[in-house]
Amino acid sequence: MERAVFLFQDIIWVRDRIHLHNVSGIALSPEAILGLRVLQKSHKMFVFANHPDEAHEETVAEVERLQEQLPNLLARYGVCVQRLPHPATENGLCLESPLSLLSKIAEEHRIDLSNSLVISNRLSDVECAAEVGVPGIYIVGEREPQPQLVQLPNCLIATDILDAALLAMERHLSRYGEQILVDVERAAMILKDGGVVAFPTETVYGLGANALDPIAVARIFEIKGRPRFDPLIVHVAALHQVQNLVTELPEPAQALMGSFWPGPLTLVLPKSDRVPEIVTAGLPTVAVRMPDHPVALTLIRRAGVPIAAPSANRFGRVSPTTAEHVHQQLGSAVDLILDGGRCPIGVESTIISVLEDTVTLLRPGGTPLEEVERLVGPVQRRTQASAAPLAPGQLAHHYAPQTPLVLKGQELPERALRRGLLSFTVPASAEDFVAVEVLSKTGDLREAAANLFAALHRLDAMHLDVIVAELVPEVDLGLAINDRLRRAARK
Ligand code: TXA
Ligand code: MG
Repeated sequence: MERAVFLFQDIIWVRDRIHLHNVSGIALSPEAILGLRVLQKSHKMFVFANHPDEAHEETVAEVERLQEQLPNLLARYGVCVQRLPHPATENGLCLESPLSLLSKIAEEHRIDLSNSLVISNRLSDVECAAEVGVPGIYIVGEREPQPQLVQLPNCLIATDILDAALLAMERHLSRYGEQILVDVERAAMILKDGGVVAFPTETVYGLGANALDPIAVARIFEIKGRPRFDPLIVHVAALHQVQNLVTELPEPAQALMGSFWPGPLTLVLPKSDRVPEIVTAGLPTVAVRMPDHPVALTLIRRAGVPIAAPSANRFGRVSPTTAEHVHQQLGSAVDLILDGGRCPIGVESTIISVLEDTVTLLRPGGTPLEEVERLVGPVQRRTQASAAPLAPGQLAHHYAPQTPLVLKGQELPERALRRGLLSFTVPASAEDFVAVEVLSKTGDLREAAANLFAALHRLDAMHLDVIVAELVPEVDLGLAINDRLRRAARK
């Protein structure tokens, strides 16, 4: 049995920007695009329309045309929805809500209704859902929630679809352990109180503090031993948070957010006065990202503030991809370590700056550059000569284990008897090595990225004289893997 969400189509597009007579002019709500992307990971998705009542400006034909177009429009953003059919119509007008068909649809599509959701900004839809035992999320937008809602059992309230998607996600957080919601709530309180919490993201574990609290942020620098000239990434779980942090959202940045958020892509944009100087190390720009990890998103949503977070390792060292790695490096220095298991991507986010429409790659990472360029065209590479302002993830020596590391083919240090090999696939011969880590037996770059830092941590713990690392093909996530290996190899 599958879970499903049934969404009222009016919450997906932005009415005051729509030109219904020119359907291609439909503007989708950015919150909807991101929210639907989150929802579709664990739900089948259906969109329903209600035929117009007095409150609506559109004709029946317009509503239907819109419903026909939505699946194609959303598909451009990688979101897949089906249309919920209308019940029988009378004179072309349907008098009953399509939600009255839910039980029938559930049977056809093998859907578990009690684990499904109706999301709408109309109270009547939420009530209708409750009648057939489907929990609802009522989208209130900026409005005050209506008092009758308190009476409705099984109904949650959200500000927009992204917010609703995060609420839906919370219901399935227990795969990270029975305790996880309690821990996340405690972590959120600590963050609100100016504390520092380590948390999982899809890339690596982060060391977070309230981005708007300079004193809390200062503790991150102390705990990491990180120089103050190295700016932090601010993590968000809502688009209004981004609007508060930046002064401009150039078109390419909006396109990138629409296609890759939540996900391993950080955007560097002109900063607003609200961002403390310590977060950006005095730069006029701020780095922002929406992580794609249920624990991280729930934490940020519940803390209610944007979270500044570098990777949760000591400065210059290998980034942590498990809670255990964080514990080993930072241990009791942090107020709490949230355990969300292994980070699925395993290398840090791709960092792209979008300043006055110039798009520049600052750090290769979990979002392949090829995919970015497919969307926004050629991206400038940062050359050493144009390296100001300093982005220390760009520091030559970084991401390094304590054991000396050389790239395969480079000269070995003297008396390097105990050697470890970090190999992309299964090596032809491993005779010269006391330890071998294979990143991906099948030569899969995503698997290799996911294993990279854990393999480095293991080799580093073996008291070897040297780690010999093999570069991987320089495409897709290979760009990020090689970047980290080259930096780890530099003195
Ligand atoms: O995947 C990630 O990005 C992880 C997770 C925790 O989100 N975070 C991470 O943070 O890798 P960190 O601090 O280890 O690396 C962030 C990089 C640094 O190299 C920093 O210099 C750069 O982002 N950065 C931050 N703000 C910047 C800005 N305004 N301009 C240029 N670079 C910036
Ligand atoms: Mg780092």
